[in-house]
This record gives sequence, structure tokens and C-alpha cells, in this order.
Amino acid sequence: MKTADDHTKTSSPSTMLTFDPKKVREDFPILQQKIFNHPLVYLDNAATSQKPQCVIDSISKYYTEYNSNVHRGIHFMSQKATDAFEEARVEVQHFINAKSDSEIVFVRGTTEAINLVAGTYGRQHINEGDEIIVSEMEHHSNIIPWQLLCLEKKAKIRVAPMNDDGELIYEEYEKLFNAKTKFVAITYVSNSLGTINPINKFIAKAHQNHVPVLVDAAQAVPHLKVDVQKIDCDFLVFSGHKMCGPTGSGVLFGKLEHFELMPPYHGGGEMMLSVTFEKTIYKEPPFRFEAGTPNIADVIALGEAIRYMNRIGMGAAFRYEEELTAYGTQLLKDIPGLKIIGTASTKTPVLSFVLEGINAMDAGMYLDTLGIAVRTGHHCNEPVMKHFGIPGTIRASMMFYNTKEELNFLREGIMKTIKLLRR
Ligand code: ALA
Repeated sequence: MKTADDHTKTSSPSTMLTFDPKKVREDFPILQQKIFNHPLVYLDNAATSQKPQCVIDSISKYYTEYNSNVHRGIHFMSQKATDAFEEARVEVQHFINAKSDSEIVFVRGTTEAINLVAGTYGRQHINEGDEIIVSEMEHHSNIIPWQLLCLEKKAKIRVAPMNDDGELIYEEYEKLFNAKTKFVAITYVSNSLGTINPINKFIAKAHQNHVPVLVDAAQAVPHLKVDVQKIDCDFLVFSGHKMCGPTGSGVLFGKLEHFELMPPYHGGGEMMLSVTFEKTIYKEPPFRFEAGTPNIADVIALGEAIRYMNRIGMGAAFRYEEELTAYGTQLLKDIPGLKIIGTASTKTPVLSFVLEGINAMDAGMYLDTLGIAVRTGHHCNEPVMKHFGIPGTIRASMMFYNTKEELNFLREGIMKTIKLLRR
């Protein structure tokens, strides 16, 4: 396998110098449409982002020109598919600055990646009486796999709490460590609040206690430049579909020193060197963890999504998103009866809020009639909702292709919602 140094040449074209959201929008055909006779205002990006034309074309090209299985064929198209698939792995390696492409495993998404780690590393290392630390702001997918493991092993979950701004309380997290602590699973960015956690500090604390850390980066990679060597996480997981890539594509990063000692998660074709009825010898990572035919088209398209993100320039995109967050916060905060949930000092472009006297789902359904797509409910974050004593929020989550004009529409939509629905 190649190391980062073997790949100094990036396949990404030059970075856009000044960020122009209007121009960027032209890359996303879906955004040009009307919904119920209103221009679509898509503010559900934390659930899934839209896809630029180059990503859509990449999928279509694979099926039109070289659809073949990977790692198995000796014919031309199979070689071409294998090359494109492995190029995507290198693209991911560079995207998160992993040391080697052997540290990149393709999975269906964040959920599968967390279950893989819980089911392999977790099963190997967690025993009766051990403790796993998660945070109060975890998505259900970074709680339930650990709960299942704890049930099986008679281990225990400990929860790092957050304050009323939706920020994790470091001093409380520190207190959770003891001799029984064996693992930390923590999110980089909250999906319902947008909080960006000071992840380096949380990882460093765990490492001082010789405890490995899994970082859920599903909501981080669409906005922040994530560097696994800088943050020094042991595992990092994310989905392609929230960062302009296709659904069904996801990534598990793991330090090679861990991967090399971990058993497979799934058994099947192409993850083994030899099979007899007595014994199977597994391949090296990452192939050991990729049994069966992978999601070839979507992995290749994920590589294209990364090239696209590199091309627009993630730093410039995030600075623009910060502007959007500040603008949107100003627009919403003075609306009578509107309360923003999640007021951390560093945030991704997420505006979660409740409207006094109005059910979140009713509000979301009415906004939809105006062409405004938001998510409502608990956002797979029931413990977060419990913290704030609410059943759910209305969440407007943005991406670099959203505009201030769209946020003006959102404000108008909320004003109409209040007029119509407030009892
Ligand atoms: N985890 C996704 C969200 O926050 C689905 O909406």
C-alpha cells in the first residue's frame, strides 16, 4: 500500500480563489427547481447534502462505461474499476491526512463504521466491569452500538455532560476517567446543535489515560478540514452523503497499529488469502474489513466529491458558512417566541430552534408548502432534547451553496408560520 508521501500529486484542480455561492449553486442541478411553485430553499443539509453534477456524472459514467467488479477481474474494465476504486481510497487518505491508504476502510456510512469498531476492537478489548465514555450530544448511532457491546460484555456507559449552550463540559469529562475506562466515542460536531467540540483536547485527555478514541466526524467533514494526524484520533468515521457524495458510501479511518490486530467484522469474498474448512487466513487491512462486492460506483463518486470540495476550497467555503450562521442567527433571534437551541461559541452552519406554542413538525410541514426544506424532531438525539426539556426542534442546516436570500425566505416563512399556527 502507498503512504502519504507517495501521493504528493493531487488530482484536484486549482482552488477557487474567491468564494462565490451563486456560481457554486450552478453545480447543483437539484437546487434550480421549484417546490409547490416556490424556489427550493434546501436547509436540510445535516441530514444529507446535495450532489454536484460531477458526482452525478461519475456514477453514470461508471455504469455506462466500465461497470465491473473490483479486485477480482483480469479484464480491462475490471482493472479500470479497481484503479478508480483505489484512487478514491487515496483521495480519502489525503482528505483526512491519514498516513497510509491502508488506514481507510470503505463502509456504507458512519453507522456501519461505528458498529464495525464496536464489533471488532470493542469485542476484543471491552470486558466485564469496563467503562466506555460517550457524550451527551452523541447521535444515536454513537450510543446504541456501545450500549449493545456493554450489554454483551456487562460493561458500562459513562456520559460526558454538556452545558445549556450545548458545549461539552471538559472538567466533567475529565472526572469520568478511572482505571476501568477502556474507550471513548465522541462526536466532533453535534448534528442537532452544530457545536464544534475542541476535539484535540478531549482526545489528548483520553490518551493521557491510555484510552483510545473514536471520533464521529459525520457532521465535521462537510465543513472543516479534518486532520487525523493532528487530532491524533485512533478511529474516525464519516459518511459520503453529507459531504456532496452519494448515499451508501462511508469511511472508517483507523490507525494501522489497531487495524492490524483487529479481527474481521464480516466474513466473505475477497477479504481472505486462503480458505480451508479448518482455517482461513485473512488479508491485511483495509481489505480484511471489506468482505463481498463493495459499493463501487458510490465509492468512486465519493472520490469525485472530495475533488470537488478541494476545488471549491474548504477554508473559503467554511468562512462563508460562518457568515451565513451569523446572518441567520441575527435574523432569527429577535422573532418573538423563537428560541435558538445550541448557542456554542464555535458552530457549523446549523440553526436549531423552537417556536413557542407551535409543534415543530407542524411548522416544518407548513414551511415545506413554501418550498423550505428543514428537518424537525429529535434528530436522532433524544438525550440532547431531554437536556433542553423539549420533544424536538426545527433545524435549518446550511451548506456553502445556501445564500442570505434563502435565510430571508426562512425568516418570512417562520413569520407566516407563527401567524397561521400559533395558538
Ligand atoms: N444524522 C442525520 C441528521 O442529523 C440524518 O439529520
